[in-house]
Order: sequence, then structure tokens, then C-alpha cells
Amino acid sequence: MKINPSFWTIIAYTLVIATPFFHHESNAMNTSIITPNQCLGDGKTIVSKDKGTFELGFFTKSNKRYLGIWYANITIQTIVWVANGADPINDYSPVTPPILELKSTGSLVLTHKNVLVWQTMSSSPATAVRNPVAELLDSGNLVIREENDTNPQRYLWQSFDYPSNTMLAGMKLGWDIRRNFNRKITAWKSDDNPEPGDFSWSVMRYSYPEVYMTKRTRKMYRIGPWNGLRFSGMPELRSNPIFNFNFVSTAEEVYYTWTLKDPSLTTIAVLNQSAGGRPRYVWSEADKSWRTYSTLPGDYCDTYGLCGPNGYCSITSSPVCECLKGFKPKFPKKWNSMDWSQGCERNHPIRCNSNGTNEDGDGFVLLQRLKVPDTEYTLVYKDIDLNKCRAICLENCSCMAYTNSDIRAGGQGCVMWFHDLIDIKLFPDGGQDLYVRLRASELGADEHRQKRMKIIVGTTIAAAIISVTTYSAYRFRKKIAEKSSKIEDNYESYVDDLDLPLLNYSAIMVASNNFSVKNKIGEGGFGPVYLGKLANEQEVAIKRLSKSSIQGFSEFINEVKLIAKLQHRNLVKLIGCCIQGQEKMLVYEYMTNGSLDYFIFDHSKGKLLNWQKRNHIIGGIARGLMYLHQDSRLRIVHRDLKASNILLDDNLSSKISDFGMARPFRGEQNEESTNKIVGTFGYMAPEYLLDGLFSVKSDVYSFGVLLLEIISGKKNRRSHAKQSSLNLIDHTWTLWKMGNAFQIIDPNIEDSCIESEVLRFIHIALLCVQHCPEDRPNMTSVVLMLSSEMELDQPKEPGFFTRRENVEANSCTSYPSSNNEISITLLTGR
Ligand SMILES: *[C@@H]1O[C@H](CO)[C@@H](O)[C@H](O)[C@H]1NC(C)=O
Ligand SMILES: *[C@@H]1O[C@H](CO)[C@@H](O)[C@H](O)[C@H]1NC(C)=O
Ligand SMILES: *[C@@H]1O[C@H](CO)[C@@H](O)[C@H](O)[C@H]1NC(C)=O
Ligand SMILES: *[C@@H]1O[C@H](CO)[C@@H](O)[C@H](O)[C@H]1NC(C)=O
Ligand SMILES: *[C@@H]1O[C@H](CO)[C@@H](O)[C@H](O)[C@H]1NC(C)=O
Ligand SMILES: *[C@@H]1O[C@H](CO)[C@@H](O)[C@H](O)[C@H]1NC(C)=O
Ligand SMILES: *[C@@H]1O[C@H](CO)[C@@H](O)[C@H](O)[C@H]1NC(C)=O
Ligand SMILES: *[C@@H]1O[C@H](CO)[C@@H](O)[C@H](O)[C@H]1NC(C)=O
Ligand SMILES: *[C@@H]1O[C@H](CO)[C@@H](O)[C@H](O)[C@H]1NC(C)=O
Ligand SMILES: *[C@@H]1O[C@H](CO)[C@@H](O)[C@H](O)[C@H]1NC(C)=O
Ligand SMILES: *[C@@H]1O[C@H](CO)[C@@H](O)[C@H](O)[C@H]1NC(C)=O
Repeated sequence: MKINPSFWTIIAYTLVIATPFFHHESNAMNTSIITPNQCLGDGKTIVSKDKGTFELGFFTKSNKRYLGIWYANITIQTIVWVANGADPINDYSPVTPPILELKSTGSLVLTHKNVLVWQTMSSSPATAVRNPVAELLDSGNLVIREENDTNPQRYLWQSFDYPSNTMLAGMKLGWDIRRNFNRKITAWKSDDNPEPGDFSWSVMRYSYPEVYMTKRTRKMYRIGPWNGLRFSGMPELRSNPIFNFNFVSTAEEVYYTWTLKDPSLTTIAVLNQSAGGRPRYVWSEADKSWRTYSTLPGDYCDTYGLCGPNGYCSITSSPVCECLKGFKPKFPKKWNSMDWSQGCERNHPIRCNSNGTNEDGDGFVLLQRLKVPDTEYTLVYKDIDLNKCRAICLENCSCMAYTNSDIRAGGQGCVMWFHDLIDIKLFPDGGQDLYVRLRASELGADEHRQKRMKIIVGTTIAAAIISVTTYSAYRFRKKIAEKSSKIEDNYESYVDDLDLPLLNYSAIMVASNNFSVKNKIGEGGFGPVYLGKLANEQEVAIKRLSKSSIQGFSEFINEVKLIAKLQHRNLVKLIGCCIQGQEKMLVYEYMTNGSLDYFIFDHSKGKLLNWQKRNHIIGGIARGLMYLHQDSRLRIVHRDLKASNILLDDNLSSKISDFGMARPFRGEQNEESTNKIVGTFGYMAPEYLLDGLFSVKSDVYSFGVLLLEIISGKKNRRSHAKQSSLNLIDHTWTLWKMGNAFQIIDPNIEDSCIESEVLRFIHIALLCVQHCPEDRPNMTSVVLMLSSEMELDQPKEPGFFTRRENVEANSCTSYPSSNNEISITLLTGR
């Protein structure tokens, strides 16, 4: 049946008048196809073929109309493609709706009041079109093809060639060289404005091609070239249960693509201008929300060219930038004041013959665990091995470095760099080899000469802020103070591209009534916390770091950047920071319902949290902690998880706060030791409290304690407990062995709880507080256990601090008994 346009238009009118705003489900046409002379009017949509995953239709943003594709079955409106992002329809009146029509020439045409707004251009204009149809496929690809021909090679046009801000499974990001056609992802101007923004994500066709994030034409971030297995700058991209990925580079095409491993999963990668990054989300049907799977760029060291030419960045060092071996800062003064942009130059220039070949006497130094330099000036020889590569590079004076272009099968192929080496990052773990040209005399040079005295600051605000009162700390503080006073005057240049707002000090003063006592809402580990109201009416919590902080300015900024990258619905969000002279302030979102301890340890307030709410709170804490441990790129150990650090929002959802003590792990390393014990009695795992060893498993221990506290409404460590009385863990364990664990349940939740469920949670808590760290489950397992019926192991004896001497010295493999004299520099019994 052929339907004439005016019919559809009338339908559109009626529907639109009834429901002027986005309301797709009821208006979906039972088809995935548009045929010529058929129109798609405002308020009407088509759904994708087969499973109906996607829907095509019109939507409104900021009173403008757009044609787009979104997930039909996802409750949060998720628009994955926009046709007329650059040409919005400035009119959302139902009386003058836009019309989408397929012309018999095979072109989709979008008009508004008979004015052309947008149209498709055929990718093969030469061929005559017979019976075109436009079809929305279940991949989210809108294609125009011949009615009888479904071969993708012969599509007349496809929306996957013109991505907006979202990369879907099966899309190709990159070049079709035959057509000289580039597909790139472009961010929206903002969440409310689909117009193409400044950020894009695209493949550069260098000899050794790369994927970049650019801001207009400026390179902001690169994930490194493809080394056969993964991108050089993303060692963490590995085989995973969610998606397969591949990079193809042939004479005809250069592109990155990924496909879903499990078709029932939904994952998208979205370029986000306001966040300045490209998170990957996975849809959680249970939560009805998008969960962040990963975020790019990962850390401060990913800032393009941060350390200038021939410098490299190491996130675990402080300061983060250093010169490559054999190089020295070009402008030492600038370099030392942390302006690294001018980079480094050779200690001794390379000597070249007049015909451009090298005199004898050069060699190469092997640097490992790197994101290799920007590949703009590279040459790749796919069939040459490393020895030949070295020989060719040595011959040519302007060859700066070389390595294998493909690391598979022990390494193959050759890539050489010319010009300066830019944007090198040193990974704590993973990464690639690079051979850098040096004068032979440098090669033998004493390594120690290179090693500047490294200032080891725990890489967090935390470790750095803790007042250590030893002599060396005093010297260190003095040094940092000297350094920071030099640069604080012109700090704005540093925070130029800080994604986080730098808040105006006078605005903070106004917001907090000059830090009035009335506004003070607490005292954190590192200073007082004030409630404030910003000019935009937003309520915020302002943490004023104590002035005695030994942390220098750039460390502070680095830390803030790290914390700002941690974004999860169960973590308190950092809104901005503020620096004024020696004062440093962190501004967080304000949680109206305060902290968890306020409720659970109080008999009458405890009534406000029934079991369902507590269950929800526990799930949130577990997911937040899992994110810190595993999902965020930094692998954070919180180190001070406790009831007073769990804040509750309007809906009583839990958010973990106080990363003040959190500390990123170095790569895969699983355990670190520290001589600065921070934390709170009652929550600290035995290996941490006694031997200063902390790991994700010490957080799991604290989580177990917290879980028991939430269930029982009692503190593990009671301030006025009698000497003989057991702590909560001992008490629970004793009851558990007798089969009476339900006795610990808070009377306040007795009516609302499902006993079997609470008992299961107690069981999980006991697994978390087991003595040996390796026996404790990780947070991924905990989240799984909390939300499923899976069978649980029997817990072993918990770690009792009070009964340490009874515990066999080397009963745990990852908890070596040590006689180290660890000085407990700071131990708060808060
Ligand atoms: C809608 O489509 C489904 C399957 O695609 C079909 O079974 C059903 O009969 C259609 N309904 C109408 C009203 O056309
Ligand atoms: C949409 O979601 C509902 C429930 O979440 C499910 O029952 C239904 O099968 C889904 N439909 C499609 C087309 O995926
Ligand atoms: C489609 O139909 C046309 C004639 O209408 C025919 O020439 C062509 O070969 C057909 N293509 C396919 C793939 O069947
Ligand atoms: C983009 O980032 C901002 C800030 O982090 C966030 O509020 C917003 O939801 C993100 N938008 C998308 C589409 O992910
Ligand atoms: C020029 O290069 C060749 C090798 O290609 C070398 O043998 C010769 O000595 C060089 N000429 C001069 C003047 O150094
Ligand atoms: C060195 O390599 C560069 C880049 O390929 C090339 O332009 C130059 O001619 C080479 N020089 C010599 C002496 O081979
Ligand atoms: C802060 O804001 C005030 C008034 O809005 C302005 O006078 C002052 O210059 C600003 N200070 C800075 C450092 O931007
Ligand atoms: C805060 O201090 C400034 C100057 O120090 C003063 O002008 C202002 O009135 C004070 N505001 C309040 C609310 O006390
Ligand atoms: C939590 O905060 C909301 C909003 O401020 C408030 O309405 C609610 O009563 C609070 N809940 C509790 C248990 O205090
Ligand atoms: C609270 O829940 C409601 C409804 O579930 C939701 O609309 C709102 O955004 C939530 N608020 C917060 C702060 O999460
Ligand atoms: C968590 O523990 C499970 C079960 O022991 C294991 O399979 C998984 O690899 C662990 N996950 C991480 C990220 O360590």
C-alpha cells in the first residue's frame, strides 16, 4: 500500500498535538522501513528490524527539533545518532512539524516548512537507483539500499558513516581510503545541545596510524598506535567479557572497531565535551542505568605533550615529568617551576656527516613500559625485524628511536621516529619497549647521575597531607614550600585545562559566610568542612585543607585532577577546587541526609532506615568500592572506609566520601606497605594495622565491618566497652558458630527484614573479615554475592586484632609475618 504524504502529515499533527514532547513508545510505526513517498512526521518513529532495539524519530532539545536514533527499550533517553545536529530546527511547534521523506533518487530528505534542512548524499552517485528503501537495522545503523539488495558493500548510504557522539558496536572509526572518507566521532556541544562541539575522536593516517582526541585541531589525548594486540597507550585494554576490539590497517582501510561478545549486553562509547573524555558505558538492566566501564583519558599523564619534547610522564612520580635518559631540561628554570612545555634537549648533540649519515659512536638505550611517542613523523616497515630496524635507524641521523611495530609473536615489523619524541608516558606496568638514540658516551654513563633525588609523595592528597613530624619531613616540607611559592603566582596557566572548575575564593567566602562557625558541618581528617551555597543556589560541602599541609601546589593540582576523574553514582562528586595563597579547598556536592553513622548507631534514628533501605545502602557502598578497586583506571584503595564516611543523598542512596586518605595503586601490584598508617580503629584489617600492609583486601575487611555494623546497629569498636567484652566481629563469629548469628540483627529492622537475606549478608561480612587477605573475596565477588543466590564458602576465623598472638605467624601467604619496626606515625581513633 502506498500512502500519500499528506495522510502521514495529518496523523503526525494529531499525535503531536496530543503529545507534544518526546513520547515514543505509543507512536512507533510497526515497521523498520521507509519507502519512497512515505513520510516520517513529527511524533512518529520507526523501530529497528528484528529485535526493535533502536528507534528513529524526532526529539527536542532546548526547544529545537532533531532527527535521531535512540534505544527504544532503555528508560533513560539515550540518543546515539543525530542527523541534523549542525542544522537544528528552531521550532518545536506541532503546527509546523518537520518531515522526513525518502526520495525516489535514494536520498533521505528532511524538510521543515518546505525548507530543506538536511539530506543524505549517496556514497555511489554514479549508479542509477531503482527501488530504494531506508531501513533501520538492529545495530542502530540507518541504511539506504536497493529493496532487493541487503549487501552492506552496496548500501547507498548508512548512518554509521556519519557518527555523532556515540560509537556503537560494529561501527568503524577511521578511514575508507578508496573513498578518501573519514569517519569520526564528534562530541555534542553539551548534553542539551547536539550541535557538533569542539572535541572529536578520530584516526590519523600516519605511517603508524593512531587514534586521537582533538579539540578543534589541537591534539588533546592519544591512545597510542595499535601494536597488534592493543593500543600502546592503553595497556589495560585487554580481552574482556563484554566486547572484542580490532584495529585494521590496510591499503584500503584504516579503522578501529569493536563488536559485542554477548548480544544481550549493551555498551556504548560516548565522547563527552563537558567531561573532556570518552567514557564507555554498559547498560545495567538491574539498575536501569548506564554504568561507566572505563574512562579515557585515564590520568593526568595522558594530557597530550605534558612533558614537552623528549620528556616523559610517570603518574607515580612527583613531579610527574622527567627527561629521557641522555636529555636535560631545555630551560631548567621553567622546568623546575613545573612548566614542562619546552621539554628536554640532548646532553650531547648527535654528530652527523655532511651527507646526513651518522658518525660512528651512536647507540640506543632501551626504555620499557611506555606509551610510545606521537607517531606523526614515523616510518613503518612491516617486513623488517628489529636488528635491521636498528641498522637502518642508526644510518640516518634524523632517526630518533625505533621499535617493533607489532608486538605479537615476540615482536615483528619496524617503526622509526623522526624529529622530537613527544607525549611519552611511563606505565607502572604494561606498556611497550622503545629504543632511543644516544651518543655512545651517554650509554655507559652512570645511571645514578640521572637520578635526581626523587621526592616520593604518596600520590594522593592523603599521603602528602599527613603531617609527618620527622626531620626529613621538615626538610621536604621546606623544599616544597619554596617551590610552590614560586609558582603560585601564575597558577592559572596550570589549571588552564583542568576539567574541574577553579572556584573563586571570594565566591567561596560568600558561600560559606566567611567560613562562619554556623556553616561548619564537620571536621574531616584534613580540616574542617563547611556547608555553602554557591551563587547558582547549589549547596556544596567545602573542605578546607589545613594550612599545615605539606603538599605543594602542583601535587595538589595533580591530586585534584585524579580525584575529579573518579566518577561514580556511589562516590561523592568533586565539584571544584579553590586555591588562595596557602589555602586549598575542595568543593564537593552536598549530601542532604548526612552520614550513615548518624542513623545506624542511634536507636531512634535507626528506625528511619528499614532493611530495604539498608540493603540499598549496602549495595551502593559495594558498587562504589568495586569501582574504586577495579573499574576506575587508577585502582584506588580507600583506606578509611567507615560509617561516617558514607554519606546519604535525598533518596538515602549511599555515596562514599573522603578520598583524603585514598591512594592509587601502582599498576597490578597488589599490596603495598606504608609507614604511615592512616585509618580508624575498628575498621582496619590486621595486616594493615600491624604491619602497614594495605591492599584492596584491607578495604574489603573494612567493608565487612561496616556491613556488620549496618545489620547490627552497633559499632565494632565501642568507646566505652569493657575490657573483656568482645568486639562486634568476635561476637558475631561466636554466635555464627553456634548458629545464632541472627541475634546480632538490629531490633529496628527486625520487622522489615527477610531473615534469610540478612543471614546471607552476615555470612558475606564474615567472609570479608577473614584473617588472611587472600581468603577475603574481592569486591567484584562481593557485589555478585550480595545480589545473587550463589553458594557461599564457609568463612574462616576472622582477623582479631585482640587475639593476634594466637594467630599463626605465617598462616597467610600474602601476609608475611614481619618483624619490621613500622612506626605508626598517625593513627586516629576517630
Ligand atoms: C507488528 O509486527 C509484528 C512482527 O514484526 C507482527 O507480528 C504484528 O502482526 C505486527 N502488527 C501490526 C498491527 O501490523
Ligand atoms: C524491553 O524490556 C522489557 C523489560 O525490560 C523486556 O521484557 C522486553 O523484551 C524488551 N524488549 C525488547 C525489544 O528488547
Ligand atoms: C534487484 O532487481 C533488479 C531488477 O529489478 C536486478 O537487476 C538486480 O540484479 C537485483 N539484485 C539482486 C541483488 O537481486
Ligand atoms: C558528560 O559529562 C558530564 C559531566 O561529567 C555528565 O554530567 C554528563 O552526564 C555526561 N554526558 C553523557 C552523555 O555522558
Ligand atoms: C656519506 O655516506 C657514506 C655512506 O652512505 C659514507 O661512506 C661516506 O663516508 C659519507 N661521506 C662523508 C663525506 O662523510
Ligand atoms: C633519513 O630519513 C628521512 C625520513 O625518511 C629522510 O627524509 C632522509 O632523507 C633520510 N636521510 C638519509 C641520509 O638517509
Ligand atoms: C572573584 O570574583 C570577584 C567578584 O565576582 C572579582 O572581583 C575577583 O576579581 C574574582 N577573583 C578572581 C581571582 O578571579
Ligand atoms: C566577610 O568578610 C568580608 C571582608 O573580610 C566582609 O566585607 C563581609 O561583610 C563578610 N561577610 C560576612 C557574611 O560576614
Ligand atoms: C533525606 O533528605 C530528604 C531531602 O532533604 C528529606 O526529605 C528526608 O526526610 C530525609 N530523610 C531522612 C531519613 O532524614
Ligand atoms: C531520587 O529518586 C528519584 C526517583 O527515583 C529520582 O528522580 C531522583 O533523581 C533521585 N534523586 C537523587 C539525588 O538521586
Ligand atoms: C575476583 O575474584 C574472583 C573469584 O576469586 C576472580 O575470578 C576474579 O578474577 C577476581 N577479580 C579481580 C578483578 O581481581
